[in-house]
Amino acid sequence: MLVSQLLGMTPGKRDLISIDDLSNEEILGLFRYAEEFDGDLKAHAATCPGTILATLFFEPSTRTRLSFESAMLRLGGGVISATEGGTTSAAKGESLADTARIVGGRYADLIVLRHPDEGAAKVLADYAEVPVINGGDGGHEHPTQTLCDLYTLWKEKGHLSDLEVVLCGDLKHSRTIHSLISALARFDANIVCLPYEGFEIPSHVLERLERRWGSEIQRADVGDLPGISAGKDAVYVTPSRPHQQSLFTQLNAQVVQRIDAIYMTRSQRERQGDDDKGDGYMSLGPTQLKEKRFKETSILHPLPRVDEISYDMDRDRRAIYFRQAGNGVPIRMALLAFLLGKLKLGGAKPPRASKKPLYRSSHGLRCSHEVCICNREGRRYLISEFEVIEELPPLLACAYCGTEERPQFVGHRQSRKLHRANAAEATRIHVENRVYFRDRTAAVAAGFGEGL
Ligand code: NCD
Repeated sequence: MLVSQLLGMTPGKRDLISIDDLSNEEILGLFRYAEEFDGDLKAHAATCPGTILATLFFEPSTRTRLSFESAMLRLGGGVISATEGGTTSAAKGESLADTARIVGGRYADLIVLRHPDEGAAKVLADYAEVPVINGGDGGHEHPTQTLCDLYTLWKEKGHLSDLEVVLCGDLKHSRTIHSLISALARFDANIVCLPYEGFEIPSHVLERLERRWGSEIQRADVGDLPGISAGKDAVYVTPSRPHQQSLFTQLNAQVVQRIDAIYMTRSQRERQGDDDKGDGYMSLGPTQLKEKRFKETSILHPLPRVDEISYDMDRDRRAIYFRQAGNGVPIRMALLAFLLGKLKLGGAKPPRASKKPLYRSSHGLRCSHEVCICNREGRRYLISEFEVIEELPPLLACAYCGTEERPQFVGHRQSRKLHRANAAEATRIHVENRVYFRDRTAAVAAGFGEGL
């Protein structure tokens, strides 16, 4: 049976769960429509008449929900909304899968979900018949914020390729960063990550950039960026075909000539746990941006701002974060109309589907990320699903939240014979017959063994 039949997926529908679900060509195609919509926001009510958008927001939101709702209304459609888990049957224990079947059955033509669990939007997309858009799933991804960020940069700078961008703040928990960095890497940006100390970008996010887009990752000493470098643990990401020598002075003795954009994020306190002991607070204002290299630097922020950008920055021509928030309406109009099949993007091709095998199993290895949907309510009904990134030794990425696992043992589902994961015999077992285990103890407890 096809997986799509198994989960009730609708073949052919497009969802936006990760920014990697759109190709660069499609993103640029959406910008052209967004500009057209922006020309007169009130002139497009004939685009999607009679269409209903459901906004399910189980976490706070101002910009994302309201700009989606405004976008749908401006396209001539209507909106139904649930703005807290507490007001829906989720509070009675209903699963996301069942919510998807209901809302994504005959109630709405498209759904936007914001949810605290990583991978929640994928679950909704797997079970809903209509397109699903990820409006932010825990600290994982926020692809429509990235569309808004890129659209803003494209309008300001006139292009997206070869930009010099600095990402600041809580890079560990910011879902906006995890989506944005992937898109910037695809458009060949030079990226410098300047995290609050202790809030560095997760290594699996960087490793994925290396593997998928051929980015080069280097540790950088950015002590020569007074004002905007609070921590020392900076990371420097360059495209596989660098368009210039390195950006920062301590790397290859180059001097920074220009910085196109600084993207600031707030400390994501709601996602920080006991392990998050870092500090390194930053506050950005005109006094830190006096040098020549900051002359044309645009300052972006997904908002809400707490105090990481001073209020006296707001009057500075380089501050574009309020314009960025406004751009959320036309770009979301373009996205909604596209997913509803109302726009053609001039032959732009979708991203190539991954050829990596999918490993699905109700036994053995589970995702180790505590806030992954498969360890939360999904425990009741989801089975583990991983992309097999590498075979020998195996490297698996959770299909819900992207967390990477390196299982030490693999067993044969039928014979129950166990192999070390780095043994050649392991790769000869067809992926459908494999059961991965984190360690030997887990394998033995599940009835697998070497001597069988
Ligand atoms: C962001 C989010 O929710 O991740 N906000 C937004 O959608 N504009 C950023 C944040 O909350 O810090």
